[in-house]
Amino acid sequence: MKRLNGKSALITGAARGIGRGFAEAYLREGATVAIADIDLEAAEKTAAELGDNAYAVQIDVSQQDSIDAAIAAVVARAGGIDILINNAALFDAAETVDITRQSYDRLYAVNVSGTLFTMQAAAKQMIAQGKGGKIINMASQAGRRGEPLVLVYCSTKAAVISMTQSAGLNLIKHGINVNAIAPGVVDGAHWDHVDAMFAKLEGKVPGQKKAEVAAGVPAGRFALPGDLTGMAVFLASGDSDYIVSQTYNVDGGQWMS
Ligand SMILES: NC(=O)c1ccc[n+]([C@@H]2O[C@H](COP(=O)([O-])OP(=O)(O)OC[C@H]3O[C@@H](n4cnc5c(N)ncnc54)[C@H](O)[C@@H]3O)[C@@H](O)[C@H]2O)c1
Repeated sequence: MKRLNGKSALITGAARGIGRGFAEAYLREGATVAIADIDLEAAEKTAAELGDNAYAVQIDVSQQDSIDAAIAAVVARAGGIDILINNAALFDAAETVDITRQSYDRLYAVNVSGTLFTMQAAAKQMIAQGKGGKIINMASQAGRRGEPLVLVYCSTKAAVISMTQSAGLNLIKHGINVNAIAPGVVDGAHWDHVDAMFAKLEGKVPGQKKAEVAAGVPAGRFALPGDLTGMAVFLASGDSDYIVSQTYNVDGGQWMS
């Protein structure tokens, strides 16, 4: 029995990486999935590869007009929205004394404002539909504690954990469950970018940071997007109806809370 039969899901940042993995899992479980991304061309390519129940939607989660247009596109195409995954995010790294306002503003606009106002727009639509819904925010182990070179990104993910708590408490009266997933390290383009930044900042050779980090993961390796999909399906399904405001670590044992 498919667990998300007939559900309409919107996944931001789904053109690649973890978001794409979530889309594949939701499609397998019977959902219709909006592959929403700032990169429309990449979203269209991904949607075409994933089949008839996937479709591309352009969204820049840092822009309210774009969020509203994306929600309207999902409603027009799928008749409503039952599940949102706030997955789009940006990463940056710098010495504390070198952090720029431009980097801070951009990461907060996408990771924090983007998560909040996409969640708000989806929640309004879910409330209007009157049958509840599921919202999953992408946090990170980076939101559980600071890192010397990652002040801004870590603080945005701590904000995601906090927003998940407050929104979950507020929206459960509408039957909307808001929860979050905190991955550890997941292989893909994101981590290639992280590795390249650390190579510069810490004088490492390309691939060195990744290898060092992988060696420190209790599970012994980086995750792949498929390692996170079980939790994402669970949190989108009726099995999680009594779960409110939680952030689940899916990180190979890196953090306990
Ligand atoms: N990869 C990891 O190790 C890891 C670890 C912990 C948490 N996470 C979180 O998981 C989520 C997905 O990570 P990923 O590794 O797949 O990232 P990724 O960089 O591979 O993919 C992010 C996607 O978001 C899109 N995007 C960027 N800005 C956008 C915007 N303004 N509006 C809409 N879309 C936008 C990009 O085009 C891209 O397709 C993020 O929230 C990330 O912070 C990742």
